Amino acid sequence: NLAWSWNHETIELFRQLDVDRALRRVAVQRVHLAGRGDRAGRLRHRQGAVAGSGQAQRDLGVEVADLRWPAGATTGPASRPTLDRVREELGDCTRCKLHRTRTQIVFGVGNPKADLVFVGEAPGADEDAQGEPFVGRAGQLLTKIIEAMGMRREDVYICNILKCRPPNNRPPEADEILACQPFLLKQLQAIGPKFICALGGPATQTLLQSKEAISRLRGKFFDFHGIPLLPTFHPAYLLRTPAAKRLAWR
Ligand code: URA
Repeated sequence: NLAWSWNHETIELFRQLDVDRALRRVAVQRVHLAGRGDRAGRLRHRQGAVAGSGQAQRDLGVEVADLRWPAGATTGPASRPTLDRVREELGDCTRCKLHRTRTQIVFGVGNPKADLVFVGEAPGADEDAQGEPFVGRAGQLLTKIIEAMGMRREDVYICNILKCRPPNNRPPEADEILACQPFLLKQLQAIGPKFICALGGPATQTLLQSKEAISRLRGKFFDFHGIPLLPTFHPAYLLRTPAAKRLAWR
């Protein structure tokens, strides 16, 4: 009776980490995104251009964040950042206002060489208290989902677009996302996963640089710098919205 937004075929694909087949699906999606008539593609392109500009970042009052990929100045496996280096660079971060209200930074957890990375939105109260992502109710559902895929939580890597809890769990704000994004990109580059699963609207929109609703993006593969990215509903949304669970299974 598990709530999930993938059909059985996709779950099977992830279970087997069938890269070739997934990449074929991604190639189709890439062509689709590039099409002039495609709204998601146009939005992605337009917003990418805006969010990436130094002026837009200065207007948001944040230090100009380097959103290039590969993250950081260097390329190639030998010069890939390690997760430890990324954590070190993040330090006791005060780059956005969330440092004033957080208990601790919630960096990420799991296998540093995971084939599959889940990216959520931001720590909640439980995560802020424990220093680990997805340990509350939504996290328990995510763990069940991972296990339903025949994997263990320790096999994958789990992180968020924000490393600090927004007060009262309000949605992430643009300046916070931008301040945190270089670290998310470096985490993904350090891990080098075969797949990324974006959980919910903010994670999907941040990674794809799109304003498109999650309901339109979910369940399709997108290309994230050569890595297949699958957006899906956030487990917290599935807990709140039983109707979505039914929809999700289709
Ligand atoms: N929701 C998220 O998006 N991330 C967490 O870590 C916990 C709940």
